[in-house]
Amino acid sequence: MTTMTVSNATIRSAVRDDAIAIADVLTTAFLYGDLATWLIPHPDTRARVYRPYFALLTEQALDHGQIDITYDPDVGVTAVALWYPIADRPVPAPDGYQTRLAQITGEYLHRFTALDQATHRHHPYTDWHHYLGHLAVRPDFQRRGLGGGLLRHHHRELDRTGTAAYLEATGSDNSRLYAQFGYQPCATYHVTPAGPALFPMWRPARLATPQRHKAGRSEATTPFAQQPSRPT
Ligand SMILES: CC(C)(COP(=O)(O)OP(=O)(O)OC[C@H]1O[C@@H](n2cnc3c(N)ncnc32)[C@H](O)[C@@H]1OP(=O)(O)O)[C@@H](O)C(=O)NCCC(=O)NCCS
Repeated sequence: MTTMTVSNATIRSAVRDDAIAIADVLTTAFLYGDLATWLIPHPDTRARVYRPYFALLTEQALDHGQIDITYDPDVGVTAVALWYPIADRPVPAPDGYQTRLAQITGEYLHRFTALDQATHRHHPYTDWHHYLGHLAVRPDFQRRGLGGGLLRHHHRELDRTGTAAYLEATGSDNSRLYAQFGYQPCATYHVTPAGPALFPMWRPARLATPQRHKAGRSEATTPFAQQPSRPT
């Protein structure tokens, strides 16, 4: 496991014991904003649904991707980045995903399903890349360089292996951060015609090591364990 430090925090790969703390950071960081308000209008309901929802996504990332975290010895997990290796198909869903999503989101299931469908529909399943599914910093630790630190940390590995990256920004502030790290805007789309906008961005592969990966190939250089894929 590689480690580096940002402020007082250490960056490391998450393990199963970090799952609750990771879901907590995701819940509090994503609690507000256009997408959040559209998914579930009332903030109390949103917070209640978000915890098990992000626990489900954390399980998916631990099973099929890699979670980088900043860990502060005094307060625990302060920032998280959920990364997935993508070739030519979506990230595999957790077991029983649709049933569990329905149980968790209840009357708001159609919104979460629309979000899944929109992001899948627009995802470029062409070139091999790493997908940043979520980047989140505990609200009281934002704007201190932790989010940027996690990006820098993972990009080091991407650039060592000549791997591209993709993400969906949720707003212009976030897009600005990602642009500073070499992400270029793709065509903006809306989750539904009247729903919130997402701002996809692509970071081209940099050939620090001349090894460009194409879709569908088995990659020995990826830091992720290769998993059998099935559609979500
Ligand atoms: C977006 C996020 C991950 C950035 O992490 P961070 O540790 O706060 O960001 P850093 O301190 O590393 O970098 C700050 C930069 O981020 C951008 N930024 C992020 N959020 C911002 C905000 N609310 N207001 C202004 N700039 C913001 C700016 O470019 C800023 O640079 P600047 O200070 O020079 O203007 C974090 O703020 C967060 O968790 N936000 C809520 C969840 C979220 O929106 N996640 C991203 C989804 S695409």
